[in-house]
Amino acid sequence: MASATSTATPTTRDRLPAWQALKRHAETQKKVHVKTLFARDPNRFNTFTRDVAGLTLDLSKQRWDAETLQQLLALAEESAVPEAITALLSGQRVNTSEDRPALHTALRLPKAATLKVDGEDVVAAVHESLQQMEALVVRLHAGQWRGATGKPIKDVVNLGVGGSDLGPLMVTHALADFRPADVYPVEVHFASTMDGSQLADYLSRFNPETTLFVLSSKSFTTIDTLSNANTARDWLLAQLTRQGATPISAELVVRQHFIGVSACPEKMNEWGIASAHQLRFWEWVGGRYSLWGTIGLPIALVIGMANFRELLAGAHTMDRHFQEAPLADNVPVLLALAGIWNVNFLDIRAHSILPYDGRLEYFAAYLEQLEMESNGKSVTRQGQAIDYSTCPVLWGQLGPNAQHAFYQLLHQGTQPVECDFIAPLKRYDDVADPETRRHLKSQHKLALANCFAQSRVLMLGDDAIDDDGPRPAHKRYRGNQPSSTVLLDQLTPATLGALIALYEHKVFVQAVIWDINPFDQWGVELGKKIATDTHKILDHEGSLDPMDTSTRGLIEAFWAVEKD
Ligand code: F6P
Repeated sequence: MASATSTATPTTRDRLPAWQALKRHAETQKKVHVKTLFARDPNRFNTFTRDVAGLTLDLSKQRWDAETLQQLLALAEESAVPEAITALLSGQRVNTSEDRPALHTALRLPKAATLKVDGEDVVAAVHESLQQMEALVVRLHAGQWRGATGKPIKDVVNLGVGGSDLGPLMVTHALADFRPADVYPVEVHFASTMDGSQLADYLSRFNPETTLFVLSSKSFTTIDTLSNANTARDWLLAQLTRQGATPISAELVVRQHFIGVSACPEKMNEWGIASAHQLRFWEWVGGRYSLWGTIGLPIALVIGMANFRELLAGAHTMDRHFQEAPLADNVPVLLALAGIWNVNFLDIRAHSILPYDGRLEYFAAYLEQLEMESNGKSVTRQGQAIDYSTCPVLWGQLGPNAQHAFYQLLHQGTQPVECDFIAPLKRYDDVADPETRRHLKSQHKLALANCFAQSRVLMLGDDAIDDDGPRPAHKRYRGNQPSSTVLLDQLTPATLGALIALYEHKVFVQAVIWDINPFDQWGVELGKKIATDTHKILDHEGSLDPMDTSTRGLIEAFWAVEKD
């Protein structure tokens, strides 16, 4: 991504000796088909595979060899990755533009640990907030949280967006099998979109007497979430304050039907969230890194606190590995280096996330925010424009379904794409009925066969077929699409925690090598401001004069149909 206004100086990463060496190495390596690399090295799977925390990462289908990896490791050293890992985990102010640490890893430190930030032990505060969350979960699971009319809460709707939605949504879906037995049946739902369509559906179906809303917003200023919250509050007030002979106060309704989760207690107070129903967290937890703390309330409601702590423990195991393993065996570092090699040296700038397990349906959506909001940047931490590519376009879908949608492009399109295949090895062992278990286990085997076959065909192309007789061009496959495969022993709270932490750390290592700050998101601010101005114009409170003709035409189209 060369910038016309580049002010690159010799200090940028692409001037490092290792970067230059990799550029030269790539000139020859680009011409080598990955199938040739397999033919050259029968031990390739072992050379490029690592195990940690119940995960196996196979990087052998990447278009690299041992020499490439050595040079990438040198780039990591020259970019000071080891020092950056220490800075991240020890609470240094790695979020430079906002001058604060990024301490999501502190949210999963065990109780006995200590980590001081500005002289205060954050671990004690973290565990205190988990206990507050646990108290709310226990009340709801005991059927003891009652709405304003005295009935126990049955439906909990999380109102949040971005990091206050995607992580909890993804994890609750992935771990729905881990619901604790014998708790009051509370169902958890998510409404994120500012247009109100998800919320409208819930409001048309749910009983206000037994519905509780969790207002999740780090800043407590996000219009998407606040507009949903205001609609929900008015719905509750309209329905509940009219109930029965005894009038019910608005204060009681808001108190019993809203929990707030935020880093901004003053704003929760202002909105009217009762202080006993506020869960707090800290500015040093980035929104897209926040599922590990109180933003994880919906997760704890679905899987229970014991499983939530397992999720944290799995992530912590990955954190320790990230901190302690040498770069050459460090799984997040290796995954990051594969991406750097593809993006910056093989010019592969599209990345697809392909889980082969329906429980991971929202994993790609979650990673879209984690990766692209973190690393979709084009200036260094010092504010210099950069002349190399950063985050690729990343998207995904459940692999089996994507096979019937966009795999055509992966196999025969003109675009090189890096793919991540993700699958559990074991599945359905706990299904009680033997006949159903047999069927489902065989479906799991079918999914694994497809997962392994697809990465093989993407790698080998036509060579995956034994009988490679003459075929017309439209039936040929060139292969050479690089991929990584992550196998989970099985999908559990612990392995999912480790998997998420693996990607968080991968994103961090790539940011260090690109010399960008992965913990801010200034690129989303201008759109918010312009949308506020545009909203006023739609309300006939501003002038159309500064508008371009396209936007003017769209606004006039709305006015033409507007009724009230
Ligand atoms: O607008 C982007 C963003 O700030 C994300 O970074 C964040 O996860 C999301 O909005 C929601 O923010 P909040 O939790 O403050 O409502």
